[in-house]
Amino acid sequence: MPEPLLAVENLVAGYGGAPVLRGVSLGVAEGEIVAVLGANGVGKTTLNRTLSGLVRASSGTIRFLGERIDRLAPPDIVRRGLIHVLENGTVVMQGPADRLATDPALATAYLGL
Ligand SMILES: Nc1ncnc2c1ncn2[C@@H]1O[C@H](COP(=O)(O)OP(=O)(O)OP(=O)(O)O)[C@@H](O)[C@H]1O
Ligand SMILES: [Mg+2]
Repeated sequence: MPEPLLAVENLVAGYGGAPVLRGVSLGVAEGEIVAVLGANGVGKTTLNRTLSGLVRASSGTIRFLGERIDRLAPPDIVRRGLIHVLENGTVVMQGPADRLATDPALATAYLGL
């Protein structure tokens, strides 16, 4: 079986040494839509932040298109095509695409959403 587009294994991450995610594993195949459900404060946003590099994983791996991305900075993750759309509609982008991070309309147009 081919590796999923996005493959997360045994991910541990949190804030200030206190883990929120304690061994999260999931896979997203090409063309698949995956929803993560859970109570308030359970770690859904933390998972998204870790996938986009805003929160650093203390262990575990994140692979996207077959490449490990869990040690990359957010701009380098964005460049590989993994985009984090925040709850307020802004898009996580940095570096040369800085303006896109603060202008949801521009980001939406840019991404063709
Ligand atoms: N910046 C932060 N610093 C320290 N702790 C944080 C921070 N952000 C979130 N947390 C804590 O991490 C845990 C998970 O929070 P998170 O925001 O990931 O949950 P969530 O599932 O997205 O919740 P919600 O359904 O309310 O959006 C909570 O206990 C929260 O208080
Ligand atoms: Mg949340």
